[in-house]
Amino acid sequence: MKFIIRFFLVGLFLFISCQNKKENTEAEATELVMYQPSEMAALMNTMYYMNLDTKKKILNNENIGSFPERFLTIHTATLTDTKDRTDDFVRFSNEYINNMKSFYRSDLVDRKNNFNKAIQSCIACHQTSCRGPIPRIKKLLIQ
Ligand code: HEC
Repeated sequence: MKFIIRFFLVGLFLFISCQNKKENTEAEATELVMYQPSEMAALMNTMYYMNLDTKKKILNNENIGSFPERFLTIHTATLTDTKDRTDDFVRFSNEYINNMKSFYRSDLVDRKNNFNKAIQSCIACHQTSCRGPIPRIKKLLIQ
């Protein structure tokens, strides 16, 4: 019985996660071809790859440049579901932007910790609004 409940919960979790990969039936394949990421989803993917690049720069002791102004479009980009821009979303996005800005202002010795703190604020928001990408985001953290 416990097993069945756990199985059900995992299924429910996968169902509600927002990066739910579906089986490719013909109808769903059409849906995939037609899929247009929202401005927010596109921004998120850009932020993911930019931060992956930043992580490499930190590990190689390279110059990280300055705060990327385009991160600020998190305040205006349209979401797949406009209901998602809740008060919580606004609060988490402010926290994320503040942490990113302090990371870009960091001294060399604090760079790693402040980077991880900024990435933790990606995760904090995702825990409330979109759990699917969390395992991917965690890979950005520097051990
Ligand atoms: C304030 C909340 C918030 C913050 C901060 C945030 N995200 Fe997101 N993220 C979302 C929401 C909501 C979506 C779903 C967007 C949509 O479908 O329109 C999303 C979607 C994503 C996706 C999936 C995009 C796709 O192709 O569907 C990835 C990957 C992602 N975020 C990574 C990140 C990373 C990396 C960071 C930090 C650098 C971050 N997120 C910060 C809320 C947030």
